[in-house]
Amino acid sequence: MQTLIDLQTITKSYLKRGSNEKVAAVKGISFQIKPGEIVGLLGPNGAGKTTTIKVVCGLIKPDAGTVKVKGFDIVKERQRAMRSISAVLEGNRNLYWRLTVKENLEYFAGNRGHSRREVSQEVERLIEQFRLESKRDELVNNLSRGMQQKLAIAVAMLAGTEAILLDEPTLGLDVETGYEVRDLLRAIAQEGRTVIISTHDMPVVQDLCERSIIINAGQVVVDDRVDSLLRLLETKAYEVKLGTALSPAQIARLKGTFKVLTLAENVHSFKVTLEHDDAIYTLMDILRLEHTPVEAIDRTNIHFEQVFRQLVKGRKETDYVLA
Ligand SMILES: Nc1ncnc2c1ncn2[C@@H]1O[C@H](COP(=O)(O)OP(=O)(O)OP(=O)(O)O)[C@@H](O)[C@H]1O
Ligand SMILES: [Mg+2]
Repeated sequence: MQTLIDLQTITKSYLKRGSNEKVAAVKGISFQIKPGEIVGLLGPNGAGKTTTIKVVCGLIKPDAGTVKVKGFDIVKERQRAMRSISAVLEGNRNLYWRLTVKENLEYFAGNRGHSRREVSQEVERLIEQFRLESKRDELVNNLSRGMQQKLAIAVAMLAGTEAILLDEPTLGLDVETGYEVRDLLRAIAQEGRTVIISTHDMPVVQDLCERSIIINAGQVVVDDRVDSLLRLLETKAYEVKLGTALSPAQIARLKGTFKVLTLAENVHSFKVTLEHDDAIYTLMDILRLEHTPVEAIDRTNIHFEQVFRQLVKGRKETDYVLA
């Protein structure tokens, strides 16, 4: 299948405010997105997600590397490249704050050159779909954050572009509105559009995305299907139930030897990934140190959050997550 968005070794540094010191925000990121893919760009604070999104939609010029959208260079052929993407960024800058909800929708729907009747039908459909009926004549400036976010997504949809990029679309929303936004994003995805969502909200990725690109400290650490990422560790993750608590020496040995997903002092169970056939014997040796009674060892489900934290933490020593 043809590539819709193609990033080749993008780098971007910022100058620290008031000094000549540079902060490397993105250090050689490459990825390719195919039409119709739903991709989660996942990473902790400061990983470089917003910078990457802004580079893809041409708001920031990279120091090096190229971005092509449908083969058009985002820097050299910006207008043609931008025909295929729209973006919802922090602060919802794609809205007119002094216009009402309806006026914003009418304005952006009208941009596409449809008849008045078509525009009005489309606007009504979106007002209903995004549950903005009660705010139809309210100025954007007076809307709550959640309402503004929904309207910003509606406006991005109106652009009718093949791809939509969203930077932290669920950030700061209450639980209810967060789910509503997820439903709307799912609807966009079902229309066959390409969606890139940057977030540090793991459940959003698990719920919506087929593929996850995990970035940390300006680099891609993983680029894989969400289900394979989960399966990868799921088959190796075990929950061990004990009759007594582990000693500090045992805890230190476990942390030094395995990827321990959950481990807290004074708790009689922990989750661990056993990567090799022999690992179970090593585990038993550690438990035997204090003659710790083993009550059960079961395969366990792990959450995407645990996968993420493991991948981002990297090194063995820090490869555990305290429960
Ligand atoms: N305009 C700027 N000037 C200086 N440094 C910046 C600027 N924008 C971002 N940075 C720095 O670049 C790095 C990456 O920032 P970026 O906003 O891309 O990360 P992020 O993954 O979106 O983080 P968050 O989850 O907090 O939104 C950070 O260290 C950040 O402090
Ligand atoms: Mg950000």
